[in-house]
Amino acid sequence: MRIQTPLDERFTGVPPEELESRISAAKALLGPRLLILGHHYQRDEVMRWADHRGDSFGLSRLAAANTDAEYVVFCGVHFMAESADILTPDHVQVVLPDLNAGCSMADMADLDAVEDAWGALGAVTDVERLVPITYMNSAADLKAFVGRHGGAVCTSSNARAVLTWALERGDKVLFFPDQHLGRNTAYQLGYGPDEMRVWDPRRDLGGLEERDVKEARFLLWRGHCSVHQRFKTTHVEEFRAEHPDGIVVVHPECAHEVVQIADQVGSTDFIIRAVGEAPAGSTIAIGTEIHLVQRLAAEHPDRTVVSLDPLVCPCSTMFRIDAAHLAWVLESLVSGEVVNRITVDPDTAEWARVALQRMLDIT
Ligand code: 13P
Ligand code: SF4
Repeated sequence: MRIQTPLDERFTGVPPEELESRISAAKALLGPRLLILGHHYQRDEVMRWADHRGDSFGLSRLAAANTDAEYVVFCGVHFMAESADILTPDHVQVVLPDLNAGCSMADMADLDAVEDAWGALGAVTDVERLVPITYMNSAADLKAFVGRHGGAVCTSSNARAVLTWALERGDKVLFFPDQHLGRNTAYQLGYGPDEMRVWDPRRDLGGLEERDVKEARFLLWRGHCSVHQRFKTTHVEEFRAEHPDGIVVVHPECAHEVVQIADQVGSTDFIIRAVGEAPAGSTIAIGTEIHLVQRLAAEHPDRTVVSLDPLVCPCSTMFRIDAAHLAWVLESLVSGEVVNRITVDPDTAEWARVALQRMLDIT
């Protein structure tokens, strides 16, 4: 359990303008020693300071390519900062401004549960022909698990390529922790529902019969994103009734029924491109986290960009990173103290790097 100690008055009790000028001053003092990375779901008050913005794949590539900066301040969530630590050389220190910025989906699979599943599957199928694939949204020890067992990491922007690769190496895939990304990608590759089974980690043999395991090409871990599961087919129908020419773009963490009737589906980077490429005057409903939707609406005043779910749905963990926490970590770095450093132990990092590198090589 990670616990973030509360910030003191010097950060919480000052007006936003003061935080802005302090962040700006600290950033200037740190100069090229500092690289700030920002995921698209970050608040504007944080995102404006990012040297690079990106989806989780793009940011992991940027972290891997960094050779100059000594400090990478990752404005995103814990698994992203861990991946950055794994992909950067030892002298680079990765900092997460709030330790409680986790991911509820990533927490739906842990190493014990995955090892139990692997053991149970080994009793009914040849695990040499089973390829484990973990979504980027997972802890480093799960990435190491797939590295050790011949699998790879994937993100929403490369899941198709990674699953294609996996099925060239084996007969079946165990995909965790997001059943939706796994299912949506399997459908994209032309597989049908009879070739997929949901693996429920709380039940014996995942709640399946031995025959199910033998028949399945995809064993999909029963995990989901609490933000993306809110989008329903009724939202698409209501939007289309009001805007018959409107465009619906959703993230692949949404349920398959929603993805199936959307016009376009893809990662956060893809969603940004889709809005940029939509004709001026169009109305676009987006099924993803609200900060990205609001930023796209502000950046494209000649288009109407709305959330597919009219009720706002922020990612509560991404939201934890605010200007106060950013000011705190930067001012600490200026004074020579590295706070909230994210480190992965060398053995875990070695195997997680294998799994991440396979992903980078495949794509
Ligand atoms: P992207 O890889 O599309 O940025 O998604 C990360 C994420 O956590 C979506 O909920
Ligand atoms: Fe995790 Fe969902 Fe937040 Fe993405 S939006 S970081 S999957 S909880």
